[in-house]
Amino acid sequence: MKKLHRNIHNWYQHHGRQTLPWRNTDEPYYIYLSEVMLQQTQVKTVYERYYFPFIERFPTLKELGESKLDDVLKMWEGLGYYNRAKNLHKTATLVHELPSDIEELIKLPGIGKNTAHAIAAFAFHQPVPIMEANVKRILCRIYKLKTPTEKELWEYAYRLVDRDNPFDYNQAMMDIGATICLPKNAQCNLCPLESICQGKVDPGLYPMKKKR
Ligand code: ADE
Repeated sequence: MKKLHRNIHNWYQHHGRQTLPWRNTDEPYYIYLSEVMLQQTQVKTVYERYYFPFIERFPTLKELGESKLDDVLKMWEGLGYYNRAKNLHKTATLVHELPSDIEELIKLPGIGKNTAHAIAAFAFHQPVPIMEANVKRILCRIYKLKTPTEKELWEYAYRLVDRDNPFDYNQAMMDIGATICLPKNAQCNLCPLESICQGKVDPGLYPMKKKR
């Protein structure tokens, strides 16, 4: 294993949020559901109030697809961005098993490039990176990117991913972004990526802040 990946995994073992329920399953539907909920909602809210009741009410993609949209929206009440629930239901009417192929996943309603990658990495252990806001910031700092395009970010993400353990690697990257490599306070001395990070001298420069 590369030393960098060993550092990341070691960090994750000690400081990661491994007990989150969607990190202790490889049931594609549960992972898909969690990723959709987490698109616009905080971990704590998803974990404490929505994830388990939703699964209890709709235990499988098949049962979700056979349910009325109104019942699905009821379980979504308070989460907001209701198109997420509509798309989830629509997808469940189309397939009872999720495909493992990223191109096939993206064809389903509500599954964008990042959610497709997350399902591929977490449910099917494919050697692919994921891309959420925290991961983007880490990549910008490691490679000193001020205003990267999405395409560039994906290229760098593919370069860095641990192909032997994409599950833990991707979960760790999100946790490092959420707890260490913070927007205003990058705690580089605690970071397992410090040895390769080109932006550590002045992390505040990357990415460039958008003008308001
Ligand atoms: N946000 C998106 N996916 C997540 C995950 N698997 N764990 C924590 N936060 C996330």
